[in-house]
Amino acid sequence: MRIYSRILGTGSYLPAKRMTNADLAAELAQQGVETSDNWIVERTGIRARHFAADEQGCSDLATEASRRALDAAGLAAQDIDLIIVGTSTPDMVFPSVATMVQHKLGAAGCPAFDVQAVCSGFIYALTIADAMIQTGSSKRALVIGAEVFSRILDFKDRTTCVLFGDGAGAVVLEASDTPGILATDLHADGKYKDILCVPGHVNRGGILGDPVLKMDGQAVFKLAVGVLEETARASLAKANLTDADIDWLIPHQANIRIMQSTAKKLKMPADKVVVTVDQHGNTSAASIPLALDTAVRDGRIQRGQTLMLEGVGGGFTWGSVLLRY
Ligand code: UT7
Repeated sequence: MRIYSRILGTGSYLPAKRMTNADLAAELAQQGVETSDNWIVERTGIRARHFAADEQGCSDLATEASRRALDAAGLAAQDIDLIIVGTSTPDMVFPSVATMVQHKLGAAGCPAFDVQAVCSGFIYALTIADAMIQTGSSKRALVIGAEVFSRILDFKDRTTCVLFGDGAGAVVLEASDTPGILATDLHADGKYKDILCVPGHVNRGGILGDPVLKMDGQAVFKLAVGVLEETARASLAKANLTDADIDWLIPHQANIRIMQSTAKKLKMPADKVVVTVDQHGNTSAASIPLALDTAVRDGRIQRGQTLMLEGVGGGFTWGSVLLRY
């Protein structure tokens, strides 16, 4: 009999510091950087984002989201046999955020590792966990997307610093004889590495290159709308379903215009798209599990419904996970 993986519980965490566009615009103005609530809302749909406190690392956000997911699943950390974190903003070069989360949760022993696929990180992590559950090497996995993008933003670059926020989301996946995850689809194309990157890196005790986010927004935008439709259709085809079968579209939350365009291509009405970009900004690998948890907790997403999760980001990476909740 085929083994599936099912989501048992979801959780998320946003750091306490919330900044509206007006708050951010006022702070940027003090450094001579001009932006406005109007521009940000019109071009992106973002109204506010959260920033981690100085003493909070990615693993702190990830641990809090994990605790909430474990509570929702009715499990303890010791019940988990696999931890995967999608992140591009780890606490340290190494060890991984996943091992730190494991320790902070009071667990030890099970495999724990990070996946670096930028904004597609949670989709990659979920796909790997699903494959490990299907092969029987894991029975209960904690899958997390967590980021502190505020640490890699250039607050003098108004074309990027208004777009991102910090946060974490997590799910507990469990082996099941009923679906569960129905299909997954992952891709990458490294020739696009320069359109979205943080070029600086640690080198002989210093930093070589500029360690802040660089993005060619329009190039990313154009690629994103194309691949998000393609990957959704690929997952649907693998599961023998059509776009009419999707109850909720939960896309990476980067820009409301990208999300609207994808929804239109998939013939999804706007009220079937989970939108949190307005309140969270772009939280990279955390955005999809944050949106998922938001819609589970406010009662929109119900057991038995079909969800399309899809992400796109630096690399270029993209992919989707189609699942029955
Ligand atoms: O998570 C990974 C995926 N990332 C994405 O999906 C991001 C994809 N890209 C985008 O979302 C959009 O391209 C942006 C939101 C980044 C930019 O929107 P746009 O409609 O492509 O604007 P633009 O870059 O063409 O800029 C239009 C104007 C420019 O001024 P000029 O040259 O027309 O005079 C910019 O300098 O807006 C100006 N501008 C701003 N003005 C006020 C750029 N950023 C700002 C700002 N405030 N923050």
